[in-house]
Amino acid sequence: MVSTSARLLCFFIAAAIHFDGAQSAKILCFFPTASRSHVLGTQALMKNLASRGHEVTMVSAFPLSKPVKNYHDIYVPIEDAFGEVMASFMQGGSRNMIKFMPTILRASLDYNNFTLNSPQFRRLVEEKQHFDVAVVGWFMNDFVLGIGSLFNCPTILYFSAGPGGLNNLVGNPTEVASVPHLFLGNKNPMKFLDRVKNTLITTVDSVLVEYFKYRMKVYYDHNFPAEKQFPSYNEARLNVSLVMLNSYFTQTIPRPYVPNMVEVGGLQIKAKPDPLPSDLQEWLDGAEHGAIFLSFGSNLKSSNLRQDKFDAIIGSISKLKQRIIWKWDTDVMPGKPANVFIGKWLPQDAILAHPNLKLFVTHGGLGSITESMYHGVPVVGIPMFADQDTNVAQVVRDGWGVAVPFDELTEPLLTSAIREVLENAQYAERIERFATLYKDRPQTAMDLATFWVEYVVRHKGAPHLHYQGADLNFLQRNLIDVFAFLGVMVCLVFKTSAFLLRHLKRKICDGRRGNAADKQKTS
Ligand SMILES: *[C@@H]1O[C@H](CO)[C@@H](O)[C@H](O)[C@H]1NC(C)=O
Ligand SMILES: *[C@@H]1O[C@H](CO)[C@@H](O)[C@H](O)[C@H]1NC(C)=O
Repeated sequence: MVSTSARLLCFFIAAAIHFDGAQSAKILCFFPTASRSHVLGTQALMKNLASRGHEVTMVSAFPLSKPVKNYHDIYVPIEDAFGEVMASFMQGGSRNMIKFMPTILRASLDYNNFTLNSPQFRRLVEEKQHFDVAVVGWFMNDFVLGIGSLFNCPTILYFSAGPGGLNNLVGNPTEVASVPHLFLGNKNPMKFLDRVKNTLITTVDSVLVEYFKYRMKVYYDHNFPAEKQFPSYNEARLNVSLVMLNSYFTQTIPRPYVPNMVEVGGLQIKAKPDPLPSDLQEWLDGAEHGAIFLSFGSNLKSSNLRQDKFDAIIGSISKLKQRIIWKWDTDVMPGKPANVFIGKWLPQDAILAHPNLKLFVTHGGLGSITESMYHGVPVVGIPMFADQDTNVAQVVRDGWGVAVPFDELTEPLLTSAIREVLENAQYAERIERFATLYKDRPQTAMDLATFWVEYVVRHKGAPHLHYQGADLNFLQRNLIDVFAFLGVMVCLVFKTSAFLLRHLKRKICDGRRGNAADKQKTS
């Protein structure tokens, strides 16, 4: 009896949840990138939307390994344009990101343009497929935003980190005085010199945004020409319904957001991870002294490590009693120690969630750092490029990890860092606090992201979310025109009053002088 009514209740709740969403929408996700880790969050979101009865079409270079109902992959492979650069990083080559900016921009423009022009994607256009919303994975590819007009549907942007270069699309305040730039790290409060630095970096950033716009307009005009009634590039850029960011303020810093920019940090993390493959499960279950996960992420290849760095790592971990899992990209590892398990693509989330996992040796990518924190695993960070330096620096500041700079990496240094984190209980204690804060939210990142996608569909692009700040130019946004006007007014008032006063004074004086002269005459 009880179980029957419980089951009925479950049925009604399930039905309510199902019909609560926008009824079966058609969702396009467009995410050309060579970086697998960038796609994971949206892939998880699209799977969830598909499970809620929506029809999902996913255009990317990373099709699902197991097909999912209502989820259709449009596979457009893209050349790994960063392979050489990444290999040079592992060889100890220069890792100055400014130097690589042109390469990164070029590659991003090329593979987005390539995907837009691929026969696989063109088929969707030629078949006149209808979509209710397009979710675009963002990374230096604003020109792709024309696909909203192409399919006559609203667009949502997704980015795998914080707002940075996206603020200008929806008019989100940059707040130079109180929000440190990504390159400064999440360093607050900023002292005077930090604010000077922040102002300079932000200025360079705004100039770069203008330069990117200039470079991208060519690609936009090619793909979405004005002759075919497409809106201008600028109109398309400012017609984004919503921006989703895979970041969260307890991990970064509190900052203001307009209503159509939402933080869905941790979207890729499952509260209950998928089961591990049986060999990994056994390896971890049997780790009586605990286990360590070692990975340089999805872009850097461990097999490209310079020999002395590889020897240092092998020398260090082979002497540990812990079991190691190393994300390794070839079939064999030369001189693989007995306590090392290698795999090409490992379920990182599920590995970090295993209770025997005690330490993560990582390059410090944002996804890795976040998953490590979520599962309460302290880290030894070997940052390599982009935001990894600041990510690891923050972990060190927050007290749940130790940094080992790649250039200084030697066997003794790595061993002492690993020992320190494994043996000093403080690291594990500190991370618990951050994990708790990260998870304590009114709803999960997945539920929030799902809500917002359905919201945009329900309200046909939700134009009421649009913030007017997005449409203002530099002078208007900073009230420079208003202050200039007020300044002129104040000047005018002063000048006029001064003139009137002078005039009046002269009148009075003249009057007095006249009176005095009259008096003299009469006396
Ligand atoms: C902006 O997007 C909406 C859909 O959200 C569309 O109806 C409208 O035509 C677009 N405007 C421009 C100028 O592209
Ligand atoms: C974008 O791709 C198309 C088709 O491959 C090509 O014709 C065009 O020149 C490319 N645009 C730019 C700016 O490279």
